[in-house]
Amino acid sequence: MRLDKKKIILGITGSIAAYKAVFLLRLLVKEGAEVQVVITQAGKEFITPVTLSALSGKPIISEFFGANDGVWNSHVDLGLWADLMLVAPATATTIGKMANGIADNMLVTTYLSAKCPVFVAPAMDLDMFAHPSTQNNLKILQEFGNIIIDPGEGQLASGLEGKGRMEEPENILEIVIDYFERKKKLLNKTFLVTAGPTFEKIDPVRFIGNYSSGKMGYSIAEELAAQGADVILVSGPVSVFTNKKGINVIRVESADEMFSECVKHFGECNGAVMCAAVADFTPVKAEFQKTKRGNKNWDLELQPTKDIAAALGKAKSDKQILVGFALETNDEIINAKKKLQKKKFDFIVLNSLNEFGAGFQVDTNKITIIDKNNNQQSFELKSKKEVAVDIVDKMISLLP
Ligand code: CTP
Repeated sequence: MRLDKKKIILGITGSIAAYKAVFLLRLLVKEGAEVQVVITQAGKEFITPVTLSALSGKPIISEFFGANDGVWNSHVDLGLWADLMLVAPATATTIGKMANGIADNMLVTTYLSAKCPVFVAPAMDLDMFAHPSTQNNLKILQEFGNIIIDPGEGQLASGLEGKGRMEEPENILEIVIDYFERKKKLLNKTFLVTAGPTFEKIDPVRFIGNYSSGKMGYSIAEELAAQGADVILVSGPVSVFTNKKGINVIRVESADEMFSECVKHFGECNGAVMCAAVADFTPVKAEFQKTKRGNKNWDLELQPTKDIAAALGKAKSDKQILVGFALETNDEIINAKKKLQKKKFDFIVLNSLNEFGAGFQVDTNKITIIDKNNNQQSFELKSKKEVAVDIVDKMISLLP
């Protein structure tokens, strides 16, 4: 059985495709999964709770309060219990509620409490699916790290033909199994990831920083965790966040703090990805009090920071892999190769600020990977989440 003892929440919403959820439930259970069905009010108009509870072997959950007085269904416990949540079929309404945190039913509150990966299989009429509102909400869910199972094209319940049919249960099952199988690749492995900028204090109200958003580093941390790894994510000040299982976020501010945390944890790791845009210089001294405006120029003396990647490169054993980044504006390949050697990286991920869609603050990236054996591979422009998959796949291929 390929889903032995896997704990899955199956969220069912009010769509004609709810009948397909019955087949899906059966397939999941046949593969050994323990499935808890959470259904919306509208979902119950399409299939009966009795069928679902008979197939899952558990009472289904729909309301905040159970049939007996004083029983409260805890969405928090449920969200923490699951290894995976699957919303199939997902209507435009539920997708909108999930994207905007409208927690007025058990399914959405469970979703908001879930720490596991969430898969969403939309089902609706073609025009509803194509509407910018639905597309926008799906994009938001993707940005949260949820996986959208694209609907197929074909005959719809409305009689129209087009894109909006929920993916077939057999295919959804394979996607779920594939997820758990991929996950096994990095089980019992720990990786250190640095992300975001560092802030170097000038005085209590000012700092030297940079434009790094942390998106690339957080996506790599989430992809490593999705493949079963434990991740120590040493993050500079960013507005992105992650609540994925297996990721321990250590927040730091300066390059020096990031250095200390990395050196402290690297020994227990199978490898590290140095994704942070670490400041190269820091003020020689930070003022205790705010420097007042004056008419004279302010000469700020800066000193170099410690090179975290180079320190880990020195400390690294044969069993550990080290991945670096290079953001270049000129002589990209030559500069990246120099850094690869100098810092003893196993491979370096090069992004050029000259490439459209690559670099700071954007959701996409266009990378070239150069490894220590001089293999060079260029990738097309992709979302940072997809780029993270390419980077983690390369890491897996190099693991001893
Ligand atoms: N890096 C680091 N610690 C630093 C500076 C850089 O760990 N103090 C890491 C980055 O996370 C990245 C790699 O080293 O993985 C290359 O960073 P980059 O800023 O491109 O290189 P530098 O060595 O700082 O060289 P320069 O800025 O002069 O190009």
